Amino acid sequence: MSIHFGVDYYPEHWERERWETDAKLMKEMGVQVVRMAEFSWFKMEPQEGEFHFEWLEDAVNLLNQYGIKTILGTPTAAPPKWMLDKNPEIQPIDREGRRRRFGGRHHDCQSNEVYRAHIKRFVTAMSEKFADNPGVIGWQIDNELGNSHADLCMCNACRLNFEKWLLRKYGKIERLNEAWGTAFWSQGYNKFSQIGTPLVTVVGENPSAMLDWKCFCSDLIVDFAKWQADIIREKCPNHFITHNYMCFDDKVNYYDLGELLDFVSNDVYPAGHWHPQPHQPLYETAAAHDVVRSYKKQPFWIMEQQSGIAGWEIMGRLPKPGQISAWAMQSVAHGADAVVFFRWRTCAMGTEQFWHGILGHSGKPGRVYDEIKHLTETFAKHMDAFEGSMPNPEVAIVYNVRQNYAFQIQPHHPKLTYVKEIYKYYRAFYEKKIPVDFVQDTDDLSKYKLVIAPLQFLMIPELEQHYFDYVENGGHLVLTMRTGVKDATNLCMTDRELPGRLGDLCGITIPEYDCLLEATGGVLYGKKEYLIKKWCDLIELKGARSLAEYSTGFYKQLPAVTENKYEKGIAWYIGTEPGNDLMEDLVEYFTRRSDVATLGTAADEVEMITRETSDSIWLFVINHTDDEQVYHLHGWYEMVEGEREEFLQPFEVQLFVKRKK
Ligand code: GLA
Ligand code: ZN
Repeated sequence: MSIHFGVDYYPEHWERERWETDAKLMKEMGVQVVRMAEFSWFKMEPQEGEFHFEWLEDAVNLLNQYGIKTILGTPTAAPPKWMLDKNPEIQPIDREGRRRRFGGRHHDCQSNEVYRAHIKRFVTAMSEKFADNPGVIGWQIDNELGNSHADLCMCNACRLNFEKWLLRKYGKIERLNEAWGTAFWSQGYNKFSQIGTPLVTVVGENPSAMLDWKCFCSDLIVDFAKWQADIIREKCPNHFITHNYMCFDDKVNYYDLGELLDFVSNDVYPAGHWHPQPHQPLYETAAAHDVVRSYKKQPFWIMEQQSGIAGWEIMGRLPKPGQISAWAMQSVAHGADAVVFFRWRTCAMGTEQFWHGILGHSGKPGRVYDEIKHLTETFAKHMDAFEGSMPNPEVAIVYNVRQNYAFQIQPHHPKLTYVKEIYKYYRAFYEKKIPVDFVQDTDDLSKYKLVIAPLQFLMIPELEQHYFDYVENGGHLVLTMRTGVKDATNLCMTDRELPGRLGDLCGITIPEYDCLLEATGGVLYGKKEYLIKKWCDLIELKGARSLAEYSTGFYKQLPAVTENKYEKGIAWYIGTEPGNDLMEDLVEYFTRRSDVATLGTAADEVEMITRETSDSIWLFVINHTDDEQVYHLHGWYEMVEGEREEFLQPFEVQLFVKRKK
């Protein structure tokens, strides 16, 4: 059987005598793999050049005796104090020009050459040490790259790297001046070496410069990861390399990072204290899994799956009985081949004393342990059958990290964020039990019946053409407000009215628009009036037909949503942010017109999703509530275990299969 369940383990936090008990308990719970060592540089190298891997080797070997394999983390997210004392320049400089200090984690500059040299030294020694250890199967590079510090460092090493990056991109300073629009506020540069990292200004920022800075920071992180990946690839050719992503996090372009990895992993905390309570909306967690699956277009691992109360100084809610398992199987349903729980035992020391694990501080197995044991016993045996398989959705949502950056720089509306806008569209499909893929805007769209491309703000001729091609060949495309506003360098386009050439595809132009700020507006769709928020494009029809009209504002009766038949396909344009009701009804209409199927009907909190192998479709039905639920499936699926009754116990997960003919 392949590996499907594991835990994050920190043997260095506990006395040696306990380790064997841990190994036994893990084995009984169904643990097949642990991740270790990603925060233990000091323990492995207490003085420069003095390596102590023996404790880790001891742990790896002990676990291996129990049939538990190890993924080793490189500990570069927390360099030790002796290193920073010797080379204080490793510590990053923030936007105020202050040096950030030791005492937390991520206190490193990723450009710093001295730090790179330390990493090279250390990762070489570590990977040589474990290359042939039969207990080790793979590596996690660093930890959550981009967490906390990615675009933080404003130091001179980062400045020099940024200068080189800009020189490569623009070649001549005149081209940079043009691309950044430096004629505004006298921001022209005479030479590349004058360009600084974006320290705080008195007021305002150059949006084009900020977009380049964000892209540079992403490239820097990829380069930082590659620095380690190259060493591990050479020393450990039989091991895989992965990294633990953070869902939609954007500090590093996860598509680019994915090119270095054998597979991507993700960290999932649906009830982290920062989410709305009692937990993150289900559709957001589901969307996060789907976007993670898109980063390499292949199944992924969960490297940290919540297993108790999550929080540092402030704590989130206690997951209810069965809820952790439901979240874990949600991960699997969306494409995870393995789920590693964070963490094995709640730590007694340090910042994360209250970020709870499967075992509490006392180390005594209890309710959560029993629950996860039951989960592994119930599902591990089936998971080989669909390992490596992917969902096969008919609907795609376009996701692009640069669009996200552009909206971070200029959100337009105080509450508009690119990812939240994506969630709003995703949600309507999720609750209708319609699976969705995330795609990059360069991907082939032709396999999808319906493509939603929200906020296509930065536009280039190739992308315009891509959308024309898709629709011409029969595709159904939804474009939204703020499409075609800017060019690739974040300058406003001036050659046509909005939405640029895509106006021909949509059969509209947009001579004016309105930002609603705290006001809400209305539209009439069918005979009903609906709430809209944030934005109104004042649309003029140029061949399209209006589907919905504004019912508020001086532009009342102007179209808010339009439909244009174009060659074999349809282009819809939504000039506002629909409230939930309008979103649901529009998505209902779009899916009907595109002939998109739903998997079934049930309450919003009952999730349905499939993974397909060459001969079978595996359907997961997950009850995310602590109530009993009924549901109805569209189409015949055979229940893998038990009687098909279309009825779910609280937090129950049911697995079905349909054999393809
Ligand atoms: C993240 C990190 C872990 C740990 C947990 C809990 O996901 O990767 O190292 O810090 O959060 O805070
Ligand atoms: Zn730096």
